[in-house]
Amino acid sequence: MYEEQLSKALSVEGLSQQDIEGALETPKEPKLGDICLPCFKFARAMRLAPPVIAAKLLPYAQEQEFVDRAEVAGGYLNIFFNRAVIADKIKEVALSGNRAGSGKEGEGKTICIDYSSVNIAKPFHIGHLSTTVIGGALYRIFEHLGYKVVGINHLGDWGTQFGKLIVATRKWSSLGEVEKNDEYFLNSLYVRYHKEAEKNPALDDEARAWFKRIEDGDGEATQYFDVFKQVTMKAVGKIYDRLRIKFDSYAGESFYNDKMDSCLDILREKNLLVESDGAQVVMLDEYDMPPCLLVKADGATLYATRDIAAAYYRKRMYDFEKCLYVVAYQQNLHFKQLFQVLKLMDFAGAKDMEHIAFGMVSMEDGAMSTRNGRVIWLKDVLDKAVEKAAAIIDEKNPNIKDKAAIAESVGVGAVVFSALFNNRIKDIVFSFDKVLNFDGETSPYLQYTYARCASALRKGGEPDCSAMDVSAITDDEGYEVIKSVLSFGDSVRQAAKLREPCCVSRHIIDLAEKFNRFYIGHRIIVDDAAVRNARLLLTKATANVIRTGLCLLGIDAPEEM
Ligand code: ARG
Repeated sequence: MYEEQLSKALSVEGLSQQDIEGALETPKEPKLGDICLPCFKFARAMRLAPPVIAAKLLPYAQEQEFVDRAEVAGGYLNIFFNRAVIADKIKEVALSGNRAGSGKEGEGKTICIDYSSVNIAKPFHIGHLSTTVIGGALYRIFEHLGYKVVGINHLGDWGTQFGKLIVATRKWSSLGEVEKNDEYFLNSLYVRYHKEAEKNPALDDEARAWFKRIEDGDGEATQYFDVFKQVTMKAVGKIYDRLRIKFDSYAGESFYNDKMDSCLDILREKNLLVESDGAQVVMLDEYDMPPCLLVKADGATLYATRDIAAAYYRKRMYDFEKCLYVVAYQQNLHFKQLFQVLKLMDFAGAKDMEHIAFGMVSMEDGAMSTRNGRVIWLKDVLDKAVEKAAAIIDEKNPNIKDKAAIAESVGVGAVVFSALFNNRIKDIVFSFDKVLNFDGETSPYLQYTYARCASALRKGGEPDCSAMDVSAITDDEGYEVIKSVLSFGDSVRQAAKLREPCCVSRHIIDLAEKFNRFYIGHRIIVDDAAVRNARLLLTKATANVIRTGLCLLGIDAPEEM
C-alpha cells in the first residue's frame, strides 16, 4: 500500500523510483512500522552509510499526508501511516460492492487466454482442474482490471482417436446408443478399443482409414465425429457450470483444418521448412531444441501446426496485447518450439505469447494416471467433496435452509481453491480432509468468515457511511484489517502481473485471519453508536473484499453457513 507514492516521494539524492519501489518492504513486526525501506543496497552507489541514507530520506517520507511519522532504525527507514487518514479510505471499499480492488489499467487492451482446452471423447479428469480454474481466475482478474478478455477453449477435437472411436462404436455399440449415453460410456468404448487393439493390430488400420474419411469430409464419418463431440461437450458443459467457467470461443483443433496452408506458405517463403524423412520440419538446433514437426510424411498436420494457425487467427481476430496458454509444464518444450517458430516467421504477436505453466495434481492415496483406468474423474471428486461438505454443514448448522445449494458451493469451492492457493508451478497432493478443513487455509474457511460478516451485518444493520467516523477504530487488530482491506487492489494487480491467482487467494486468507482476530477480540454490536458504526463498516468492507476475491477465483460466497 502506498508503494507508488512513497517511491515517488523518496526518489531523491540520485535514487530512482524503481530502486525505491523494489526495496520497500513490510516489516516483520507491526511495531516496526507499516512499511520500511532498507537502505543497505544504496550504500555503495551513494558512498554513505545506510543509517545516514535513511536519515536523509526521512523528511521526504514525513511530508506525505498519509504518513504519521518515520524513524531511522539501523539501516532502515521505518514508516508509520496515519491511522485516521488510512481508515477513512475503507468507506470506499464498503461502498464498492463487487468492485473492490478493481482498476482501469486494462482499458482498451485485449488479452486472449487459452485454458481448459479439453480433449473430445475423454471425460474431464483431475488433471484438467488446474488449467480450467487457473484460466478462469486469470480471466476474471484481468476483467476486474478493465481488460477485454477472450477465453478460448482450444478443443482437442482432431486426431486418430476419432477413428478408433468409430471402429469401437461400430463393433460394440451404435451411434444411437452413444448418443443416448454419457461420456463415461464413450470412454469405456475407447478403453475397450485399446485392449482389443493390443491383440488385434488390424484394428488400427481400420481406425486410420476412418480418420482419413473424417479428414476427407465423408458424410458418415462426420456424423460419428459430431456425435462424439456433442456427447463430450454436454458433459463438459455441466462441469463448467459447476466451476463457474465460461468461454468466448470454442475454436478447437479441427477449426484450423483449412487455416494451416497459409501458415505453411509463409514458412516455405521464408525457407524455414526442411524435409526430413519425408516429413516437413523447422530446424531449431540453433536454439537447442529438437526440430518442430509440422507435416508428417503422409501429409497429416500436427498439434503444433494447428497452434501456429491458431496464433495467426487470434492475432487477426482479437488483436491481442498478450496471448496466454494455461497448460501443464509437461508441454514446456511444445510452447518453446511454437514461440520460436512464430518468431522465425516474423509473426506480429510473437513476443506476446506466454506459456502459463502449472504443476501436477495427484491424489493423496497414490499417483494418478490417465492410462489403464487409474483415472480420477473430476466429477467424482466434486461429488465427493460436496457430499463431505454436506455432512460437515449438517453437523454445524442442521437447520440451515438451502442446505444442498450451500453444500455444492462449499464442496466445489474447496476443490477449486485447492488449485489456486499455491504458486502455479507447485505440484499439488489433493486431500479431501485438507481442502475441507474449516479452520485451514481453505475456501470453506473463507466462506465461513464471509458468512460470519454477513450475519453481523444482518444483526447490526447496514453501516452509515456518511456519518462514519472510522477513527473509532483505534485498536491494532482493527488497523491490521483496514490495511489488508485497502491493499487488496495491490494483490489483484500483482496476480495479473505475475499471472498468479494465488496472490488473490493468499490475500483473502490473510484478511480473513486478521478479521477473525479482530472479531474475537472486539464485539461489533456495542452500545456506543460511533464505535458500532465503525466496526460494522469495517465488517462490510471485509465482506466485500472476501466475496469479491472468492468471485475472482470462481467460488460462491453463501450468506449463511
Ligand atoms: N488439448 C491439449 C491437452 O489436453 C491442450 C491444448 C492447449 N492449448 C493449445 N493451444 N495448445 O494436452
